[in-house]
Amino acid sequence: MILWTTIPIGFLLLLNKFSDGNQDFGYDGSYGPSHWADKYQSCVGKHQSPINIDEHNVKNISLAPLKFFGLNTPRSSFVTNNGHTVMIKTNESEMATVSGGPLGDDIYVFEQLHFHWGENDYEGSEDLINNHSFAMELHAVFYKQEYKTMSEAIGHPDGLAVFAYFYEADDKQNPTYDYIVEMLPNVEMVNSKHELEEPLLLEHLLAPNVSTMQNYYTYNGSLTTPPCFEIVTWIDFKDPQLLSHEQLAAFRNVRTSDGNKLTHNFRPVQPLSDRLVYRNMFNVEDDVRSIKNHRQDAGDTRNDHNGERSIRSDVVTSIFFVVLALLATI
Ligand SMILES: *[C@@H]1O[C@H](CO)[C@@H](O)[C@H](O)[C@H]1NC(C)=O
Ligand SMILES: *[C@@H]1O[C@H](CO)[C@@H](O)[C@H](O)[C@H]1NC(C)=O
Ligand SMILES: *[C@@H]1O[C@H](CO)[C@@H](O)[C@H](O)[C@H]1NC(C)=O
Ligand SMILES: *[C@@H]1O[C@H](CO)[C@@H](O)[C@H](O)[C@H]1NC(C)=O
Ligand SMILES: *[C@@H]1O[C@H](CO)[C@@H](O)[C@H](O)[C@H]1NC(C)=O
Ligand SMILES: [Zn+2]
Repeated sequence: MILWTTIPIGFLLLLNKFSDGNQDFGYDGSYGPSHWADKYQSCVGKHQSPINIDEHNVKNISLAPLKFFGLNTPRSSFVTNNGHTVMIKTNESEMATVSGGPLGDDIYVFEQLHFHWGENDYEGSEDLINNHSFAMELHAVFYKQEYKTMSEAIGHPDGLAVFAYFYEADDKQNPTYDYIVEMLPNVEMVNSKHELEEPLLLEHLLAPNVSTMQNYYTYNGSLTTPPCFEIVTWIDFKDPQLLSHEQLAAFRNVRTSDGNKLTHNFRPVQPLSDRLVYRNMFNVEDDVRSIKNHRQDAGDTRNDHNGERSIRSDVVTSIFFVVLALLATI
């Protein structure tokens, strides 16, 4: 009797394992954000992302300017759909890097960029500002150069810097995004990969308006997808860019591993806990002074070796199991 019941159940479990397309996390039902912690313990941490940034509860600060290098080099690039997002990677032969701001003198290397969106134009961003959700959010992921590779960097509490750019819906098309929107149908299916015909200028996406590049919020948080490691310096630019309703809608046709449309891929906001969010108040006259102050800050951070080591050992224990999952998205 026992034998007869266990065999069909085992068989069903096996079927289920294959029919879910090996999905390990998603945005709905039993794979949704409220279940991520079942498999990935770090997702219940106290310094998780995304958060709601309440502008009445931020600390004004004046940091040295952010400095990008190599953004205006044309790069051969390709786009992939990993079932969780649409991601753009570039030819790695010439690095794009960033330093300054909260990163101090440390150099971070561009790894990939990807998008988060929602079912309609009224939601989609991960971080919120004054409880406002934007229609879309771009994440540009950089890893600390000192750690040499992305997979090494995720084992360190200062391993990543992620730049977040918000988008609002508009009636007019944004020509900067035409070539990305136009190739989305080519990556509708999971694991599809498409080379961009024109070389990519990261500058167009990551530095759309130099006069607003120093206006941002910054805080310490986590990856917004499993394994949710708390290793990210977040830099969220204040000024949103505009995309048309149709351009935004094109992202919602991308499919997940079960063949359904990926209509939304944002994680709900997490508690701020004991964290501070800073607003950078860039002021040209303050430039010299802030650079001096910042050198001081950077020195303090480097001396904090004990803190770093204790966090690192936590992270390293779980890393072995999740490196592949992480490389899927952030
Ligand atoms: C921070 O800067 C903003 C914008 O200039 C200002 O409105 C606000 O009062 C400042 N907050 C504090 C605490 O100084
Ligand atoms: C990457 O760039 C290098 C140098 O410009 C070039 O030789 C190489 O063919 C490029 N690789 C790809 C995959 O386009
Ligand atoms: C954001 O929403 C929370 C919870 O609904 C509320 O307590 C808070 O006052 C709101 N903040 C702002 C700035 O509207
Ligand atoms: C860049 O930002 C400034 C300040 O907000 C604005 O006046 C200007 O129109 C923007 N330029 C472009 C090309 O969007
Ligand atoms: C983030 O963490 C680092 C290292 O602990 C610290 O020096 C820095 O001030 C923190 N940044 C923010 C915005 O809290
Ligand atoms: Zn992301």
